[in-house]
Amino acid sequence: MSIEIPAGLTELLQGYTVEVLRQRPPDLVEFAVQYFTRLRESRSQDGAKAGPGGAVKAPVKGVVFDGEPMQTESNGDEGEEEEDDDEDDDSDFEPPPISRFNRRVSVCAEAFNPDEEEDDTEPRVVHPKTDEQRCRLQEACRDILLFKTLDQEQMSQVLDAMFEHRVQAKDHVINQGDDGDNFYVIERGVFDIVVERGGQALCVGKYDNKGSFGELALMYNTPRAATIIATNEGALWGLDRVTFRRLVLKNNAKKRKMYEIFIESVPLLKSLELSERMKIVDVIGVKMYHDGERIITQGDKADCFYIVESGEVRIMMKSKTKAAQQDNSEVEIARCTRGQYFGELALVTNKPRAASAYAEGEVKCLVMDVQAFERLLGSCKEIMQRNIAHYEEQLVALFGSSMDLRD
Ligand code: CMP
Ligand code: CMP
Repeated sequence: MSIEIPAGLTELLQGYTVEVLRQRPPDLVEFAVQYFTRLRESRSQDGAKAGPGGAVKAPVKGVVFDGEPMQTESNGDEGEEEEDDDEDDDSDFEPPPISRFNRRVSVCAEAFNPDEEEDDTEPRVVHPKTDEQRCRLQEACRDILLFKTLDQEQMSQVLDAMFEHRVQAKDHVINQGDDGDNFYVIERGVFDIVVERGGQALCVGKYDNKGSFGELALMYNTPRAATIIATNEGALWGLDRVTFRRLVLKNNAKKRKMYEIFIESVPLLKSLELSERMKIVDVIGVKMYHDGERIITQGDKADCFYIVESGEVRIMMKSKTKAAQQDNSEVEIARCTRGQYFGELALVTNKPRAASAYAEGEVKCLVMDVQAFERLLGSCKEIMQRNIAHYEEQLVALFGSSMDLRD
């Protein structure tokens, strides 16, 4: 009995295999879902590209995996642009157009190729600034996590391109659903984050005189995900979309390559989909600490969450004894090493930092701001909640009295 191979099956599987070999995704099933979904979308967008009987010619480079081509050799490397173009010429499959200002796509369908989209030959955006303005700008950008992995030259291009934007109370800096134009860094002012769901506008958080917003629509070519409203007079620094994508996104492609394997090994993040883990990598900053440096201070207001990439972090708490309280001495309550996290408790309980954290030797941490923590780690909160009971037991063992970390 002969088995007939359906027309197009061989090309279809070949196309998938070629992409797997080119991109080497860590999860083949997840990659297959993304690949074939993308293929179906591109076919329905352009029926003419489908071969007889609906068979689709295998794309050589049209399919992207959650936002960016993953692990392609040409990622972030301008030298290989020509080679990629040649590959395109060999195929009559045309990848669907990359969304710019006029088309909204899902995060999954987003394509970003730093080499193709905004190449380095585009004129640089420069907004002249006085020395005083430049000082204020540098101070505002000092702790911006998305800028932490930029090199000096990239950072200086970012600073050149930024422009001052003053706001008044009730100004909408961003409206949910709009196309993304700028990324914003806060110099001063309080801004409400309002998300509309099911016809109801909900204030899900606020930026209090620091931080940045407006990266999502620029990173993933999606409509603005929230409305940002100034609650009082304030000052922002804007960065245009093209410069943001050319510098920050290009860097993110490298960041994904560097942190993909590490992030996968972090126990807390095991339950997340690969695409969710990649979104975490996109927004994290990397911070280094020297031996003895304080990373967080007990009693402070919390705004960040940390994962140890290398080195060791000592968690210290002010002792409960009267004598110790007088001389402010601290007791070591835990240590965190590679892959472990800290600084989540205050974010989960909405309370001040329960303990201090110090670098033991040289330490490198991945850092996420509270807004990204809320947005991306919601599903991990249950694990963190469970861990609070463990902290409380630890404290009973150390101090002999019970301590409710939640109230
Ligand atoms: P963007 O979608 O470009 O515009 C609105 C911004 O609000 C978004 O980028 C984020 O920077 C910021 N933001 C903060 N918290 C949230 C949230 N919970 N959901 C969506 N956006 C948020
Ligand atoms: P947070 O309170 O935000 O800042 C201090 C961090 O120390 C805390 O989050 C936890 O991540 C960490 N930690 C580790 N062990 C304990 C413990 N027994 N009690 C409280 N915090 C702890």
